[in-house]
Amino acid sequence: MRILAIETSCDDTSLALVECRGRLPAGRQGLKTPRFKVLKNIISSQIKIHRPFGGVVPTLAKREHIKNLPKILQKLKIENLKLKIDAVAVTVGPGLEPALWAGIEFAKELAKKLNKPLIGVNHMEGHLYSNVLKNIRIDFPAIALVVSGGHTILLKMTSLTKWKKLGETRDDAAGEAFDKVARLLGLPYPGGPEIQKLAAEGKPVINFPRPMLREKSYDFSFSGLKTAVLYYLRDNPTASKADVAASFQQAVIDVLVAKSVRAAREYGAESILLCGGVSANKALRMFLQAAAKKLGVGFFVPDFEFNTDNAAMIAAAAYIQKLRGRKNRLIAQSNLTL
Ligand SMILES: Nc1ncnc2c1ncn2[C@@H]1O[C@H](COP(=O)(O)OP(=O)(O)OP(=O)(O)O)[C@@H](O)[C@H]1O
Ligand SMILES: [Mg+2]
Repeated sequence: MRILAIETSCDDTSLALVECRGRLPAGRQGLKTPRFKVLKNIISSQIKIHRPFGGVVPTLAKREHIKNLPKILQKLKIENLKLKIDAVAVTVGPGLEPALWAGIEFAKELAKKLNKPLIGVNHMEGHLYSNVLKNIRIDFPAIALVVSGGHTILLKMTSLTKWKKLGETRDDAAGEAFDKVARLLGLPYPGGPEIQKLAAEGKPVINFPRPMLREKSYDFSFSGLKTAVLYYLRDNPTASKADVAASFQQAVIDVLVAKSVRAAREYGAESILLCGGVSANKALRMFLQAAAKKLGVGFFVPDFEFNTDNAAMIAAAAYIQKLRGRKNRLIAQSNLTL
C-alpha cells in the first residue's frame, strides 16, 4: 500500500509518499519484511524563523506548518492523488501541541476529501522505525538507542514490535543538552550540528563528567554535564571553544556508548540500533559502530535524510502499526510515550 504521511510535531514540516509492502516477521530473526520504498520525502525546515528566539516557538511553528503544508503537498507533484494513495498518516504526538494540531487538522481534511483511512502515528515509533526504511535485516534481540531533541531512551527489542524500556533521561535529553551547550558557546539553534562542526576543530582534552556512567541503572542525566560546561567557561574565559565542544561531545558519546554496550552484553543482543536527531552526529555513529563491531553485533543507523524529523519514518511506523492492528486517537497528544 502507498501511504501519504505528514509530520509537524516540532519545527519541521514534512510530507512523504512511501510504498509499504510485506508482513511482520514471525520470529526473532528479522526477515526482510516489511519493505519500504520512499517515493518522495520533502522536509521544510523553520530554523530561520525560530533561530532569533534560541529555540522553537510553538505558535510560530503552528502558523508556519499551516502555511507550508499545502505548498509541500503541491511540491510532491502527485497527480491523481486519490488513485495513488491508500491511506493518510499523521503524527499525533509526542510534540508541541499547536504544531501537532496543524498536521492533524490538515490530515483529517485531506483524508476526508480523498475518502481514505487516516492513521495516527506516535512520533517516537517513527524515529524507531526510521531504521527499517533501508530494508535491512535486523536480528533480535536488539538494543535501540533513541536520542533526539526531547528524548533519550534505551530499549530492549525482542522483535520489531515488542520492546521494553531499559532506561531514559532523568532530566535533559541528549539533543537538548547539545542545544543548551551550543547556546553557552554562543552558537545558533539547533546546537547539535554546530557543536559537531566546532568539535571537529578541537580536541577532547577537558575532562567533563560522564553522568551516571558507572551506575547500574540504564537511565541518563545530562543537566549536570551542561552545568559543568557553564562553570568551565566561567572559570576559563580564554578556553578554546573548539576544545570545549569536542570535550562535551565526547562526554555525551562515552555515556551513550557505554550504556548501549552494557545493555547489549547483558541481554545478549544481536544488533544495536541508533536513531533520533542526535544520530546524525558523525562521531556518535562512529564510536557506537566501532563498539558494536568489537562486540560482534550488527549496527544500524538511518541514512542522514531520516535522522531528524521526517514524514517517511511516519509512513513506516503507520504501516507497522496497521499490521499490528493498533490505533492511536486522532488528537494531539503532546506527552505520548513509546
Ligand atoms: N549532528 C548532530 N549532532 C548532535 N545533535 C544533533 C545533530 N543534528 C541534530 N541534532 C540534534 O537533534 C535534535 C533534533 O532531533 P529531532 O528532530 O529528532 O528532535 P525533536 O523531534 O525535536 O524531538 P523528539 O523527537 O524527541 O520529539 C536537536 O536537539 C539537534 O540539536
Ligand atoms: Mg523527532
